[in-house]
Amino acid sequence: MADTTATDQDEVERLRAEMVERLVLDGYLVDGAVRRAMRTVPRHRFVPEADRETAHAPYDAVITKKDEHGVAISSVSAPQVQAMMLEQAALRSGDRVLEIGSGGYNAALIAEIVGEQGEVTTVDIDPEVTDRARRLLKESGYGQVRAICADASDGVPEHGPYDAIIVTVGAWDIPPGWVDALSEGGRLVVPLRIRNVTQSLALEREGERLLSRGARICGFVPMQGSDEHTAVQVLLRGDESVVLRFDDEAPADPHALDGVLLTDRVDVWTGVILAPRERIIGLRLYLAATLPGFGTMTVDADKDTGPVAPTNPGFSMAAVNIDDGGHEFAYLVTRRTESGDFEYGVHAFGPRGEAFAEVVAERLRVWDRDHRGGPEPRIELFPITMPVRDLPGQTVITKKHRHITFSWPTPLDGRIPPKTSEGE
Ligand SMILES: C[S@@+](CC[C@H](N)C(=O)[O-])C[C@H]1O[C@@H](n2cnc3c(N)ncnc32)[C@H](O)[C@@H]1O
Repeated sequence: MADTTATDQDEVERLRAEMVERLVLDGYLVDGAVRRAMRTVPRHRFVPEADRETAHAPYDAVITKKDEHGVAISSVSAPQVQAMMLEQAALRSGDRVLEIGSGGYNAALIAEIVGEQGEVTTVDIDPEVTDRARRLLKESGYGQVRAICADASDGVPEHGPYDAIIVTVGAWDIPPGWVDALSEGGRLVVPLRIRNVTQSLALEREGERLLSRGARICGFVPMQGSDEHTAVQVLLRGDESVVLRFDDEAPADPHALDGVLLTDRVDVWTGVILAPRERIIGLRLYLAATLPGFGTMTVDADKDTGPVAPTNPGFSMAAVNIDDGGHEFAYLVTRRTESGDFEYGVHAFGPRGEAFAEVVAERLRVWDRDHRGGPEPRIELFPITMPVRDLPGQTVITKKHRHITFSWPTPLDGRIPPKTSEGE
């Protein structure tokens, strides 16, 4: 949608200013260079399929392509997510940057930040996406951005090494090519799935090790190609009405849960309180990293789900008791308290549902007591060739290419189980 008149121009500039203002007020946009870029790049030109209000909605992605099942496979991400990841990348003028996953708009923001001395390459596996991005970038005055069509698993080394790689597609692992293409001290910002919880990690390369400088919750379309990874689904009622998803270690025998919903539901309340509209930071990652068998649950609210009654049908944190045969499962809920707050609770099923509910509830209480509002965990990623016994950290999740280790700063007095290797 080209701007045809001076009034059009005024309108898009107003919408853009409001979008930026909202992100600043909500605390998602702090960095001056990112703010200037978002004020400058005409976002609406990169999403001509959307009306102007939608194009500037701070928290909404614009879907640009769906697969044959109607599932989104490409989008221009939400401004809030782009601002967050650009800040995580800590880009400097003159940086050489690789963006994985192209839409055009984010690459233009990067080009604004790194300036004329910098270099931007964007890569996408889908030729329709790169053709579109190339055209829109050129039309908007960012023809210097290189748009390449390829599976990005090898990190596009021909234009590296990069000072920063920003991955804008949901990854399950870090392919070796991404680390090799990064200069020493370079930053890799990547939305990484950890037991089905996606965190945008800001990683810094130190030799073969990647050290996280921060983790932020987010959501992305999943990666395709050679590093695609599909979550294991367990259908608890034989259809899509109650689905558990496991992205790392799945229950060894999914049939261990057959008939689990015929057992009585056990409800345990934790005493962990949540204020209305409170932004809970760190709980998902803590549970995902420390609770073996952690996964997520979705429920179709239009179907009969029997005794399964989550607070949010679209997403619940859940876990299967994989340490003990996998016959129990539980999910987190909240209920309103008399004072108007919310309290976390656990619903559990299975022959030893009561004991498992207590295990999950206790993990929540530990987070509340020792980590809530506290420092972020130390997260490090090591090559798969490194023996687990040599790894630092309290818990380890092992993927195909990398081990991820986690340590929470406060002393844990042995409450977290000793180091184990979990994964495929
Ligand atoms: C969320 S979109 C990118 C958004 C974009 N950065 C923007 O400007 O907002 C994710 C893209 O990743 C691409 N993609 C998926 N797997 C890929 C792979 N292995 N290599 C390169 N691109 C991939 C998809 O085709 C999709 O276009």
